[in-house]
Formats: sequence, structure tokens, C-alpha cells
Amino acid sequence: MFRRSLLGILRPEPEGGTDLELSEGVEKDGYVVSGLARDPATGQTYPIKDGYLDLIGRKTGAGNVANLTNFLPGAGRSYEPLWRRRSLTLLTGGEFPNERELAVIRNLARVDRGGLYLDLGCSAGLYCRDLATTLGDRGDAIGIDISPSMLKEAARRTRPPRAGAIPSLIRADAETLPFADGSFAGAVRGGSLNEFGNPARVLRETHRVLAPGGRLAIMGLLRAATPRGRLLQRFLSTGGIRFFEPAQVTSLLDHAGFDPDPLEVHNVVFFAGATRR
Ligand SMILES: C[S@@+](CC[C@H](N)C(=O)[O-])C[C@H]1O[C@@H](n2cnc3c(N)ncnc32)[C@H](O)[C@@H]1O
Repeated sequence: MFRRSLLGILRPEPEGGTDLELSEGVEKDGYVVSGLARDPATGQTYPIKDGYLDLIGRKTGAGNVANLTNFLPGAGRSYEPLWRRRSLTLLTGGEFPNERELAVIRNLARVDRGGLYLDLGCSAGLYCRDLATTLGDRGDAIGIDISPSMLKEAARRTRPPRAGAIPSLIRADAETLPFADGSFAGAVRGGSLNEFGNPARVLRETHRVLAPGGRLAIMGLLRAATPRGRLLQRFLSTGGIRFFEPAQVTSLLDHAGFDPDPLEVHNVVFFAGATRR
């Protein structure tokens, strides 16, 4: 499902200056259920099927081994029940259910202001589902990811008659965001900064697509303090996952054009809020 009115902010080609249009499609209640979006500037078409708009096509887009695992069959379906539901409780060593995490993210992203929000590396859609439902008719949410398996699962989890508002889903690369400048009031990312091949570039792109004063909320992983934790992280790093020192996070944000809030740290998990300058 893709909200038709959002085609207007899409720019799949970095130089493209025109809105995408719907060249064919099945629509229901303002959402495109399936069809083809077309870039009038290039004539290129992009399918909307399996619940998301695909701007990548046959390229995998995965830049490292950690990303490739997100493409495995079943990766999307098992991600939330097997890992995400308990991940922060395991990583922080305290009781940290998804509801608590989502409340921190909503607060840091100042979702109560309303507007259009972007979830970068949305996986099965935990954050963008919550954003869409919280915003209701005061805003809207888009989730992007490069993994078809994750996006299919995100679409499955939002398909009616499931409760909650519906985020629009796009298969796109966070390193070259397919949106017009200043399109969003806020952006969120859960864990994905650790997986992106070039986090500095993704933050610069996020800065470009946020309006001035726009908010960014990040949940991510810090370098472990214990020798055992560091050993495990060294192993995971070989697959392309990186772990940050707290000062690195604030420096990355500052260099990308954000004013960072003080980090909120729970063991190896950090929450970062920042305002686009
Ligand atoms: C740690 S998971 C994110 C989890 C999700 N945000 C959550 O909170 O449950 C990282 C996600 O980022 C996606 N990803 C990795 N590199 C990407 C890129 N360059 N552009 C878009 N998505 C990317 C992966 O496919 C994966 O689904």
C-alpha cells in the first residue's frame, strides 16, 4: 500500500525535479494497492506490489554480509517475533519492551508536532507502524528499506484488517534518499545506523530531506565495555556492523548539520535525538 498523494515528494533520480505520477494502478481509500509509478522526466517506471513501491529493482543494494542476511527467505517473518520483541531487554540488561522503546523514540522525534515522518531501515516496520498510528490524521509515515523480505513483512503487518494507520513503504537506499529536499518533519532509525555502509552519508541525506527544525531520533548500539562484549562485537564487525563510541555519534550528527541532544545510554544501547540546523 502506498499513499498516492506521497508520490509528489518522490525523486528517484538525484537530478530529477518532477513528481512521480501513477501510470496504472489499483487504488483503495487514497492508497495504491498495486500498479506502476512513472517518472515523467526519465520515462522510468517503478512497480508497486507486495505492499511497497520498489525504486531499486533487480540490484540487491546490500553493501555487506550483515545486510545480506536481511535478504534471506524468512528473514522478515521471523525478525520481530524472534529478535525484535526482546532485543532491547537482552541488550540493556533491564526490562525494555517495545512499548517503552517506542515511547522514547516518539518523544525524541517530537511526533506530537505532527507532519510527515520517515523511518530509515524500517525492517518489519516496528517504528513506522507506530508513527503512522500515533500521527493519525495529523501526519503520515513512510518506511524505507533495501530488503524485499523485510518490506513484505512490514506490509503484511499493516494490511487491513490489522489495527492502526498504514505507513507507506518504499524499497530504496538510505544513502541516496529518493525524496525532495525538506520533505519531512522528522526521521527515525532503529539500529540501522550500525548497519549502513556509510553512516555519515546517510546522515547528510537525512539532513537534506528534513525541513529546518526537523527532528531525528536514533536507537543504536555503542561499543561494549566488557572484554566479552568487545569480542562478540569484533566478530559482528567482520559482517559489516559497526559499533560507536558516544562521542562518535554526536560528532557524526554535528558534522551532518544537526544539533544533538545529550545521548540517553542504557548499557550498549543509545538513544540520540537531534534537531536539523
Ligand atoms: C537493524 S535493522 C533495522 C531494524 C528496524 N529499524 C527496527 O527497529 O526493528 C537494519 C535494516 O536496515 C536495512 N538497511 C541496511 N542498509 C540499508 C540502506 N543502505 N538503505 C536502506 N535500508 C538499509 C536492512 O535491510 C535492515 O532491515
